[in-house]
Amino acid sequence: MKGRVLIVAGSDSGGGAGVQADIKTVTALGGFAATAITALTAQNTKGVDAVLDVPADFVARQMRAVLSDLGADSIKTGMLGNGDVIEAVCQVLEKDAMGIPLVVDPVMAAKGGASLLDAAAVEVLKSRLLPLAAVLTPNLPEAEALTGGTVRAVGDMEAAAAALLATGAKAVLLKGGHLDGCVVTDLLITADGSRRFESPRIRSRHTHGTGCTLASGVAVGLAQGLDLGAAVARARAYVAEAIRGAPGLGGGHGPLNHGHTVKPFE
Ligand SMILES: Nc1ncnc2c1ncn2[C@@H]1O[C@H](COP(=O)(O)OP(=O)(O)OP(=O)(O)O)[C@@H](O)[C@H]1O
Ligand SMILES: [Mg+2]
Repeated sequence: MKGRVLIVAGSDSGGGAGVQADIKTVTALGGFAATAITALTAQNTKGVDAVLDVPADFVARQMRAVLSDLGADSIKTGMLGNGDVIEAVCQVLEKDAMGIPLVVDPVMAAKGGASLLDAAAVEVLKSRLLPLAAVLTPNLPEAEALTGGTVRAVGDMEAAAAALLATGAKAVLLKGGHLDGCVVTDLLITADGSRRFESPRIRSRHTHGTGCTLASGVAVGLAQGLDLGAAVARARAYVAEAIRGAPGLGGGHGPLNHGHTVKPFE
């Protein structure tokens, strides 16, 4: 086991996204997952029934408890829920986690459309958290919300990613899962240039948690010492295989098979 990842995110009772997807991904890719839980969701493949926020101070305490003892080689943030939590997370990052690579998945909505971040918090996210990110992993609706622009085609992604880089994140991985077409394109951009990752689009309704899974896959790769390009390539391959092996659970957006690297103990 190599690579300690501190996950700062919300719980998905359905087990397909959020902290549950993050822990499974980090574990399946050979790392060690610790968590600071920001919210509980009562959720399944069909939608989010209810959300219970964890007080901001308690989120910070979970982070400090982990960092002061077990330590972390990377940190991943997912659903943060509100501006108070974002502010508290930033304070811990600035005081206790400088130099640890930070992957920010700017979660704003669940796959079914339910909002997971209040509108005022988007400004706090932009001004406080994004400048601390080693890599930011928005999907297209999130990129639109953060930049005010529109992304309707792969050709629009370069400009949107460049605009996001201007928020202060050191790298942006703009995910193209929400576009149509038989190829799915993600774009990685840094100050040094950009790189396109393309793969076949898998026709499936079982894509709940693809975003959380990708971001955690990148985070554990960085924690294990992979460079960013290699971490993204491995995380994308892991997600694709997990979609292909999806167990077919639930009546809505079903979960992935996170365990495809795991061999049952005999
Ligand atoms: N149908 C698909 N086939 C192959 N890869 C996919 C498919 N859908 C998404 N991906 C990949 O999954 C990753 C996550 O992208 P996506 O745009 O779905 O994120 P997201 O909207 O944040 O997901 P979530 O709804 O779980 O938060 C990307 O690498 C994307 O290319
Ligand atoms: Mg997402």
